[in-house]
Amino acid sequence: MIDKIPPPNILIVDDEPANIEMLGEVLMPENKIRVVVNGPEAIEIALSSNPPDLILLDIMMPGMDGYEVCRRLKADKRTSKIPVIFITAKSEENDEKKGFQIGAVDYITKPFRLSVIQARVRTHLALKRYQDHMETIVREQTEDIRTASEYLRLEVEERKKTQVTLEQTNQSLKDSLLRLQETQDHLIRSEKMAALGGLVAGVAHEINTPVGIGVTASSFLAMETRKMAERMAKKEIQMDDMQKYISIASEATAIIENNLKRAGDLIQSFKQVGVDQSSKDRRFFRCREYLDMVLLSLRPKLKKGRHQVIVDCPEFLEIDSYPGVFSQIITNFVINSLIHGFHGESQKIIHISLSQEGERLRFTYKDNGKGMSRECVEKVFEPFFTTKRNSGGTGLGLHIVYNLVTQVLQGTIQCTSRPDEGAEFTITAPLNPQPV
Ligand SMILES: Nc1ncnc2c1ncn2[C@@H]1O[C@H](COP(=O)(O)OP(=O)(O)O)[C@@H](O)[C@H]1O
Ligand SMILES: [Mg+2]
Repeated sequence: MIDKIPPPNILIVDDEPANIEMLGEVLMPENKIRVVVNGPEAIEIALSSNPPDLILLDIMMPGMDGYEVCRRLKADKRTSKIPVIFITAKSEENDEKKGFQIGAVDYITKPFRLSVIQARVRTHLALKRYQDHMETIVREQTEDIRTASEYLRLEVEERKKTQVTLEQTNQSLKDSLLRLQETQDHLIRSEKMAALGGLVAGVAHEINTPVGIGVTASSFLAMETRKMAERMAKKEIQMDDMQKYISIASEATAIIENNLKRAGDLIQSFKQVGVDQSSKDRRFFRCREYLDMVLLSLRPKLKKGRHQVIVDCPEFLEIDSYPGVFSQIITNFVINSLIHGFHGESQKIIHISLSQEGERLRFTYKDNGKGMSRECVEKVFEPFFTTKRNSGGTGLGLHIVYNLVTQVLQGTIQCTSRPDEGAEFTITAPLNPQPV
């Protein structure tokens, strides 16, 4: 659907009826014409709700002249956009210049050619329409921009709100995390306390047996001694009785001695369960050199059974760690191989290897002894787990090793073994553990 464009609306301002008539005749067919004969009326129409699209303005008029009318029209925002064409008898260049200066779009001098007026009026009307059109576009675009920037403003505000919410959520998450860590620390502490409690109960239980046996043996000895004393008082003692007593006494003292030693050993081991002692000495040391030294100290034990120890360790590997811990771990492994692993007359081989893997240290210990059952492997690090309870085992050795590896070296330990296939322990830990 095409809107019919209304004809342009032209205002002629002239005090000469002849001029009005002539202009009207020329412009009438295409335009809607209004006529006034003085300046104030022209301004009144320009300010009305139906202003003209173009004004043809005579200069020489009684009262307010054309210049003044034009000046006023241009000075008022409401009328400044209406194009003004001066039509006048004045022909001097100066007048023309003045007309343009005060804002006219054109200047036509009398006597004029009607075709020129028609053409100029058309041109200015077209320009005016184009200008109006552009203004509309600019207005619309300005409105669009305003809407867009309002939208942006709201968006930014929304984002700000989201950010504040996010920050709050973040803070509360941080708080929760902190609380969680505190709870965890607390749990670990209570877990440690529980483990320690379990250990104390275990130790009490373990020590109870040798101490109990010792007490029984010593009260038996005391009773026998009392009996001997009574008989001695009555002078009833015979050589035979004396021999019997001596044999009872030496058996009892042997039992007491053994069991006290057993209790002493248990207490000694128990002391090592707390890893503090061995973790005091931290320093740089060459692994190979230190390993050789530890093995040297174990030589008396190893010599007896003709054991072969193969060491595989880079000559210059140096770490900043706890040598005492390594010594304790190796000693435990070797003694276990001797007590639990090796038997019979076959060749006994221990294989120790140490290597650097990136920032970590890898340590493996392996023997070719009789190995372990699956159940044994599963429990091997548990405190008091031993398959030699009756012949001196405490079941604390590998538990101590486990604690040293996980707490002091901050690493992991794994045991792999099968019956008749030897035992293997693998430890990995940071080259330089954090100070404990
Ligand atoms: N090299 C090994 N070969 C076979 N069995 C082993 C070896 N090392 C440890 N074990 C098993 O693991 C158990 C626990 O060892 P450990 O904690 O050192 O306690 P203990 O030596 O006092 O028995 C041992 O009783 C033994 O059954
Ligand atoms: Mg042991």
